[in-house]
Amino acid sequence: MSDEIKQVTHIDNVRLGEDERSVVIIDQSQLPNRTVYLTLRTPEEMYNAIKLLQVRGAPAIGICAGYSMYALARQWEIGDREQFAAEFHRWKEYLNSSRPTAVNLSWALERMERVVTEHAGSPVDELLELLGRECRAIHQEDIEMCRAISEYGLSLLKNGDGVLTHCNAGPLATSRYGTALGPLFLGKERGMEFRVFSDETRPLLQGARLTSYELQKAGIDVTLICDNMASIVMKNGWVQACFVGCDRIAANGDTANKIGTSGVAILAQYYRIPFYVLGPTSTIDLSCPDGEHIPIELRDPGEIREKWYAEPMALEEVKCYNPAFDVTDHSLIAGIVTEKGICRAPYEESLAKLFR
Ligand code: MRU
Repeated sequence: MSDEIKQVTHIDNVRLGEDERSVVIIDQSQLPNRTVYLTLRTPEEMYNAIKLLQVRGAPAIGICAGYSMYALARQWEIGDREQFAAEFHRWKEYLNSSRPTAVNLSWALERMERVVTEHAGSPVDELLELLGRECRAIHQEDIEMCRAISEYGLSLLKNGDGVLTHCNAGPLATSRYGTALGPLFLGKERGMEFRVFSDETRPLLQGARLTSYELQKAGIDVTLICDNMASIVMKNGWVQACFVGCDRIAANGDTANKIGTSGVAILAQYYRIPFYVLGPTSTIDLSCPDGEHIPIELRDPGEIREKWYAEPMALEEVKCYNPAFDVTDHSLIAGIVTEKGICRAPYEESLAKLFR
């Protein structure tokens, strides 16, 4: 693997601190201008890092939450098992309330708590040992899932293809290769060339700040466009596939991803371009029947009105609606690429089969 690609894919975006009582993250809110590492020690620091998108991307949030629970548990000086379980539950619920849409957050937290509930007879020091193993396993499995997703995703592309992506589903948002960007890194490693269009992704600019940064650094041909330019690049015939990540996939295939994703899917259908969702099975929520049941995070109006600008670009009193995600209807999705293979419609069947 070339160093150019490795410096992007092999980053420590989230890791356990050396003392195992803290979590170290790259502060994604400061990229691409500054690479700053933050050490999170308190529950409030961990909650805010997720809430403020210092750590972001569904899988990375889950990994951070897993490490956070372990790091917190190591700080407590609680010998009593019942008290330990109660404290664990309290802080797990707190971290879980930081962001509602990406199911990987609750998935990882539930997985950690299950270690505590399923070892009812174990003393606290044994629980700590098991929790340490579990959070590391969540991370390691994500590395493997991203690699497998990248292989399946790459099978959908030909050398020279144009790919449009929205938001950021690369190494920063996951582990190593990423999901939607994974096939592009893997293809590049194998000598393939792609032409990528990265939507800037208003209002928080994950496409501009993170996706174009990752691809450019890896030597992949990337062109940054404003969100409202997706139609023209498709019309020009420059896009052969759309690859996006996901925050929660319902049992019927409806998929929540960054706000604006469903618009890309609608455009892709008009221009007859296949629209693919790439994500690990940890993002599939079979308990959620359809997109109507996916909770959508609403964020601060200031992100639309004034963030990034030298001065506000709308009157203070103007109403703003700032949903962080939208749901792409399953009928617009050509395939859902997971680490276990590519699911096709009807999704109720193909997704359920993954868990059998
Ligand atoms: O609000 P964000 O930046 O956390 O939203 C992220 C996305 O929508 C990503 O596409 C998704 O989490 C997939 S990351 C592999």
